[in-house]
Amino acid sequence: MPALVLLGAQWGDEGKGKATDLLGGSVDYVVRYQGGNNAGHTVVVGDQKYALHLLPSGILTPECTPVIGNGVVVDPSVLLSELSGLNERGVDTSKLLISGNAHIITPYNVTVDKVTERFLGKRKIGTTGRGIGPTYADKINRVGIRVQDLYDESILTQKVEAALDVKNQILTKLYNRRAIAVEQVVEELLAYADKLAPYVADTVLVLNQALDDDKVVLFEGGQGTLLDIDHGTYPFVTSSNPTAGGACTGAGVGPTKISRVIGILKAYTTRVGAGPFPTELFDEDGEALRRIGGERGVTTGRDRRCGWFDAVIARYATRVNGLTDFFLTKLDVLTGWEQIPVCVAYEIDGRRVEELPYSQTDFHHAKPVYEMLPGWSEDISKAKSFSDLPKNAQAYVKALEDMSGAPISAIGVGPGRDETIEINSFI
Ligand code: GDP
Ligand code: IMO
Ligand code: MG
Repeated sequence: MPALVLLGAQWGDEGKGKATDLLGGSVDYVVRYQGGNNAGHTVVVGDQKYALHLLPSGILTPECTPVIGNGVVVDPSVLLSELSGLNERGVDTSKLLISGNAHIITPYNVTVDKVTERFLGKRKIGTTGRGIGPTYADKINRVGIRVQDLYDESILTQKVEAALDVKNQILTKLYNRRAIAVEQVVEELLAYADKLAPYVADTVLVLNQALDDDKVVLFEGGQGTLLDIDHGTYPFVTSSNPTAGGACTGAGVGPTKISRVIGILKAYTTRVGAGPFPTELFDEDGEALRRIGGERGVTTGRDRRCGWFDAVIARYATRVNGLTDFFLTKLDVLTGWEQIPVCVAYEIDGRRVEELPYSQTDFHHAKPVYEMLPGWSEDISKAKSFSDLPKNAQAYVKALEDMSGAPISAIGVGPGRDETIEINSFI
């Protein structure tokens, strides 16, 4: 069994942390391949709840080696506090590996993120303010700072100088902010070098050797398909590739090594931040989904926007990721509705459209076409097999599977590890 990818099929927060943690017991490596601490992955083990931002969810499984790949952007202060927070709770984090090629989120990237959003005003993206976009921008502009740069003071200083050259002009002349001193940034970054040193590794080599040795490697996506910089609802997206191809570039593993791509799919839809969302609800039902589903951001504490399930988006996720399976989460949240609307197509300027339109203007005009499915009132949180589910819940799952284009191989009926119905085994 070679490599598997597990990723968000909607706009993030689908339950990737729980799903990764669940599979963690059967895999040797769990790898983050993109994004940074904009992610907030919740894992519930027994009565303990963990919120992970930068660390792969495999960190909670002792047998598993957690890896931060080259495609991730790393804020060293966040990483070190996440590690010490876990250590204080008795989690051993000593196996962690961090790619020397991963880019560093510097303090000025965080400043630029916040200032840019303020400057955009009404047109803002609603970013997490963690410096993600500006750090990827520096990477693409070839003025980024990498983890390995912390180990060569002269190179680090030259690179910080190059990065701040233009940024200080923008900060002072355009945004009316104070210039950032090169020495101060270099000093702060050098202070992290020794603390990170035990973890820094050639992760591309490690992962490829592991695959050659038939070890099981799981790639854990951050964010989701519709937040992808290429395939998402641009410009209301994050600045990396959460889609399956991102696992190859973000970890240095060839596509021939990946045998399975699992899309994590919420039984309804949520979104944080700005941007189009055809099935969004502004009524009692939206409030109820938010309340019952606990839909509040793990990273920023913002309320998540809530809406009904959108099969057009699920089909799109199947296509752009080559999904082999879905893991349907939070089915329990839908208990109690008499009828559950599911969006099967869009109406755009009077036309019925079955697939996600590539045009941003069309997508902004898309109105959901709903099919009503009968609901159920029985508590499903103790269900262990598909046949334990009430008939209408079974029919809801089957309908979603038919509309979405890939088999639903697991169903979440609660936040805990064991609150899962496994239909087809993943490994
Ligand atoms: P991620 O970013 O994709 O890892 O998802 P988040 O952790 O941000 O949000 C998912 C939330 O749903 C978390 O609070 C999970 O504990 C919770 N969760 C995951 N799966 C289920 C499920 O099947 N049922 C319920 N009720 N909660 C779930
Ligand atoms: P997980 O991994 C949901 C959203 C932000 C904003 C947009 C860009 O927990 O699913 P960024 O800070 O990345 O530049 O913000 O992306 N966003 C997320 N939404 N879940 C996430 O992560 C997200 N990470 C970023 O709200 O709309
Ligand atoms: Mg999240």
